[in-house]
Amino acid sequence: MIIVIDGPSGTGKSTVAKEVAKRLGFVFFDTGAMYRCFAWKVLQEKIDPSDEVQVSSLVNLFDFTVKDVDGEKRYFVGQEDVTKNIRSREISSVSSQISMYSQVRKAIVKKQRQFARKVNAVFEGRDMGTVVFPNADLKIFLTADPVIRAERRYQELIGKFPDFSEGLTKEEILQEVLKRDENDTTRSISPLKQAPDAILIDTSELSIFDVVDKILQLQAQVKPIFFRMKTSYWLVYLLARFFFKVFFRLKIHGLKHLRPGAGILIANHTSFYDPPVLSISCPEEVHFMARESLFRIPLLGRLIHVLNTHPVSQDAGDMAVLKKMVELLQNQKKIIVFPEGKRSIDGNIQPFQRGFGFLAIKAKCPVYPAYLHGVFEAWPPSRKFPRFFGKITCTFGSPIEWDEFEDLPRKEAEQLLIEKSLQSIENLKKWYQGGSVGDPP
Ligand code: DC
Repeated sequence: MIIVIDGPSGTGKSTVAKEVAKRLGFVFFDTGAMYRCFAWKVLQEKIDPSDEVQVSSLVNLFDFTVKDVDGEKRYFVGQEDVTKNIRSREISSVSSQISMYSQVRKAIVKKQRQFARKVNAVFEGRDMGTVVFPNADLKIFLTADPVIRAERRYQELIGKFPDFSEGLTKEEILQEVLKRDENDTTRSISPLKQAPDAILIDTSELSIFDVVDKILQLQAQVKPIFFRMKTSYWLVYLLARFFFKVFFRLKIHGLKHLRPGAGILIANHTSFYDPPVLSISCPEEVHFMARESLFRIPLLGRLIHVLNTHPVSQDAGDMAVLKKMVELLQNQKKIIVFPEGKRSIDGNIQPFQRGFGFLAIKAKCPVYPAYLHGVFEAWPPSRKFPRFFGKITCTFGSPIEWDEFEDLPRKEAEQLLIEKSLQSIENLKKWYQGGSVGDPP
């Protein structure tokens, strides 16, 4: 589960996020600290923070790590522990400045998404709910009166960093807070703003513990993905699961590889059973495309409509279909694609089509490979009607992340992604045939 807490400085974000993470046993991630560490590196290298080109080229050399030392988070740039240094006023202002540069944000956001894989975490920052994790399970946006925020910041500075705060006045801090708010909210990329589905909490009159309690109450109400399905989909999903469980002893491996939100589920394709087996193996609603003519078949038409199948007109070119799929992905949906294009006659995996590579790179979302076993035996292309007994297994592998290919020329990226996806399904097949020991690769 990913919880995000956004808002301007001085709203108590860090303290609240840290406490929420502690109480839930989640990882806590202060994304402002990353921009601060990079600002420290910029100053260390004696680069002028207003020189966007130089600052941007430095971001590729930015070696950032977080370590837990005696239960406290310590931030390292290279080998240097900069935990204390990054809280200075100079760093506050430089971090706000350098965080406006698109190349800097791109590199740092990439690292943040990498940190989020495979963990339950609380991320706090400015653009977590809008840009970095648009499909977070819970989004909170904290605000507070600027004067109160300045007062809190002042107390924090003189309390924790007396050596940085000699001669400091509250008025100076208020001006700095307002200046940073202006930078953060008016920058052209990823400005600080509340995501439409974020819950607003004004912390001006609340204690840290009030805010923490409120967030924990909201977290307790977050429904597991399974219960977020619309009722009609859920009913058909349950019926289909029951059918495949009873007749085919359906078994699913590797569910832990799936994350909520946008993603392309791909699998080997040997049978008409593949689309239903793959969709009911995913504990989240999935979408797929089907010929328009199928919708005209009386009962089937209604059924596939309920199951999020989208009609593709016979005359629509491949581009129109791909465009529709990209649109679904941008709306944070999961879609199913069989990259071989058509069912395999002999049950072996066939080469992948190029359109799939285009889609995966264009949509900027993870690809979830799956290996389907037993479906070919149950209903091979050579049979008009299915068999009703046997054993079917769906095995999900580690996601293939689009940002691995982000910096490559488009054609090369598409090709590599296709190769990697094919290889991944081959590996899942080997893992399954080798006795399904441990977690699928
Ligand atoms: O939260 P903080 O004060 O430690 O953040 C320092 C600066 O980093 C802040 O002025 C804006 C920038 N920042 C950002 O642009 N995006 C984030 N997700 C977090 C911080």
